[in-house]
Amino acid sequence: MKFFVDTADLDEIREAASWGALSGVTTNPSLYAKTGGKLADFEPHMVEICRICEGLPVSAESTAETTDDMIAEGRRLASLAPNIVVKLPVCTEALAATHQLASEGVRVNMTLVFSAPQALLAARAGARYISPFVGRFDDIGDDGLAQLQTIVAAVKNYTYGYWDEEGGPEIITASVRTPNHVTQAALMGADIATVPFGALKKCVRHPLTDQGLASFAADWAKVTG
Ligand code: E4P
Repeated sequence: MKFFVDTADLDEIREAASWGALSGVTTNPSLYAKTGGKLADFEPHMVEICRICEGLPVSAESTAETTDDMIAEGRRLASLAPNIVVKLPVCTEALAATHQLASEGVRVNMTLVFSAPQALLAARAGARYISPFVGRFDDIGDDGLAQLQTIVAAVKNYTYGYWDEEGGPEIITASVRTPNHVTQAALMGADIATVPFGALKKCVRHPLTDQGLASFAADWAKVTG
């Protein structure tokens, strides 16, 4: 299981990268809007994330609505840095754009995936990454992890002829809210979890670790007087 951080906040990305366990970054228009950035700053912001995370995949989402515009925006985003991954929402226009971009060697992360057929079509069109959402299912009273399990099992049944040499297509567990989402995704064999920074910090902590540290410190104080 690889860990991506799901944020566009540069401080969060810098800190997550400093831990030495980060394998990538995902952003989306909402996460970028949260930074307070404006349109003119968007591309420089993505370039800065790519610089901080040199060599790691950084997903930058296209907001285009037609296949031609997605292809054009995808090419432009991909030209910003070698580690850019173009994020496209699953729909017929984006499948066609993914097919074209993949044939040009551009990596696409197909996002907003909520069903196995969507994921299978994304893989077949040439997506390098497929992002099924977990938390948003839970938000509407459904079982996001059960949905993820179905998608992982269906996608892993086949090979697709794209990105084989890189081990793709990889499944990014998205819309992660809790450490348990990460645990269960790993047990299912999802390749990646993209985790918001707050939830990522929770993944590092455990109350028994805190308790153990406190008792070691107290006992060591007896030793050192
Ligand atoms: C995926 O890459 C998305 O950016 C993200 O995981 C969406 O999560 P949310 O449901 O918390 O908005």
